[in-house]
Amino acid sequence: MSHKTNCSKEEEALLLEKCQEAKRHSYSPYSHFPVGAALLTKEGKLYTGCNVENAAYPTSLCAERTAIVKAVSEGHREFKAIAISSNLSDSFISPCGGCRQVMAEFSLDMTVYMTKADGSFLTRTVDELLPFAFTPVRMKENRLDDASTCPNPGRDS
Ligand code: THU
Repeated sequence: MSHKTNCSKEEEALLLEKCQEAKRHSYSPYSHFPVGAALLTKEGKLYTGCNVENAAYPTSLCAERTAIVKAVSEGHREFKAIAISSNLSDSFISPCGGCRQVMAEFSLDMTVYMTKADGSFLTRTVDELLPFAFTPVRMKENRLDDASTCPNPGRDS
């Protein structure tokens, strides 16, 4: 299969294998939708993740975010690629909007491997999956000052 990637054949094979392995640890008793992820840092370290659900549904974590949070909490913030697996037999698993935003925080140029249960895959960069992303650079740009845009009548009048 031809695709764009910044990974070597060896890195690609490892990511594809490890995202399948990671899915086995999925804790998904509510959705019955196991997902696995394998994340490669720019320094060459690999972190895996699975979805971890909760009886209070909104507190559940996606596989991609589990892997990213593991890596960031160990000092890695620059990522080369992430591979995602699910049990979907007819579709490629693609990351949810929240995970795309979390990926964009760290690495817009990261390759995302979206796999199907048979092991076939598609790749896109985070930039392609989340065009016009709101990223940390926006937080450093010129802004109007708060006083002119957010008057607080409750306090001074
Ligand atoms: N999920 C992921 O972990 N990653 C994705 O890319 C899509 C969805 C999880 C969230 C939830 O635990 C389950 O899959 C069903 O939405």
